[in-house]
Amino acid sequence: MQDIFVKDIAQYLGQEVRLKGWVRNIRSSGKLLFIIFRDGSAEIQAVAFKPEMGEQAFEEAKRLTLESSVILTGVPQKHQKKTGEYELSVSSVQVLQIAENYPISKKEHGPDFLLSHRHLWLRSTKQWALLRIRHTVYYAICEYLNDHGFFRFDSPILTPNACEGTTTLFELEYFDEGKAYLSQSGQLYLETGIMSLGRVYDFGPVFRAERSKTRKHLTEFWMMDAEAAYVEHTENMDIQENLIRHVIRTVLAKCDKELDILERDKSALQAADAPFKRMTHYEAVEHLRSKGSEIGHNDDLGAADETLITEGSQVPIFIEKWPKQIKAFYMKRDPDDDNLVLGSDLIAPEGFGEIIGGSQREDDYDQLLSRMQAENMDLEAYQWFLDLRKYGSVPHSGFGIGLERLITWMSGVHHIRETIPFPRMIYRIYP
Ligand code: 4AD
Ligand code: MG
Repeated sequence: MQDIFVKDIAQYLGQEVRLKGWVRNIRSSGKLLFIIFRDGSAEIQAVAFKPEMGEQAFEEAKRLTLESSVILTGVPQKHQKKTGEYELSVSSVQVLQIAENYPISKKEHGPDFLLSHRHLWLRSTKQWALLRIRHTVYYAICEYLNDHGFFRFDSPILTPNACEGTTTLFELEYFDEGKAYLSQSGQLYLETGIMSLGRVYDFGPVFRAERSKTRKHLTEFWMMDAEAAYVEHTENMDIQENLIRHVIRTVLAKCDKELDILERDKSALQAADAPFKRMTHYEAVEHLRSKGSEIGHNDDLGAADETLITEGSQVPIFIEKWPKQIKAFYMKRDPDDDNLVLGSDLIAPEGFGEIIGGSQREDDYDQLLSRMQAENMDLEAYQWFLDLRKYGSVPHSGFGIGLERLITWMSGVHHIRETIPFPRMIYRIYP
């Protein structure tokens, strides 16, 4: 007899097969027992009929509870009422474990309760869909980069220096070497990689001691940093745009069912797969002020500004050429305006906010040094980074995608915490 996955059920109509999984739900009515069965790949209704199974086996199957683990043998058939769906006509039930009274039920649970039961919550249909979208987004990003000449280059997580300023650093004692920090972004290390491989990317967890308790912030999240030699600011945005559009198309093509489960408006995603808008920070501020925001010309955009700026836009918007004092030290100065840097933020539509931060990098040794000095940075910890500007410096650019921000947008969920298996936030480290 063949062991199969529920997703492949249509290929086995009329043949006896075995399915291994869990009970999502169960109800009995007279001589019939209906088991909503799932195996990770999909769900199916399994129907046991007492006269066919025999009294004893039927009574044994009736003991099954929510989330019990079970192996079902039976014959797949077309669903009696729903076209395009299948059911399993059960011939035998092998119980592996009868689950205790399952804490997550159909009734509404508060977010705190669910987050404290995250290890179980992950099995619910909506979380299953989100985990699968996460897998697909991850896959699509890597696929695009691999197909466009980027090599994977793994940046370290324990570092002697900060990448994105010192206010959100997680610090630890590193043996006799003094303080070390958990990486906020692998970017600086990627800049070494391009001098060897030309185009590189990393993909892994990064850490920010963010005090902000918003629906867009995690303290541990996944970032894909990409970096490319001989790529300048405008081409850097082109790469980001093509990559994000590839992700949208892949998610639409591979996650149709998952998007339905999440009730995601697919037409909004389809509409976002079109040329992105670009505006300077100056233009963005002017536009926001005309819409009532009190943002100033040297201010970062707040969450409300990010929503306002994309209002009425179906596509993401790049905000480029930022005042240097509100951007990181490594961004290249704008040759046309010494107060600006060639950085860009990509803001997703529908209020999902910033999903990418990127820039052309300062490749001139003296310029970089003076910027670092102006920011009172510990130059010794960054000698290696400065070295890159001494030995064959080239124009180069890169960007970092916040994986969970991108998944939040693709899936349309309200809070970022559902897009990662175990969210880490200021008030939560369990489980
Ligand atoms: O804009 P950020 O800070 O840029 C960098 O770290 C650059 N070094 C990247 C690079 O050029 N290689 O972070 C990049 C992205 C943001 O646009 C956002 O999507 C996400 O990371 N992000 C967060 N996601 C979840 N929780 C947080 N606390 C985040 N902070 C940033
Ligand atoms: Mg940013």
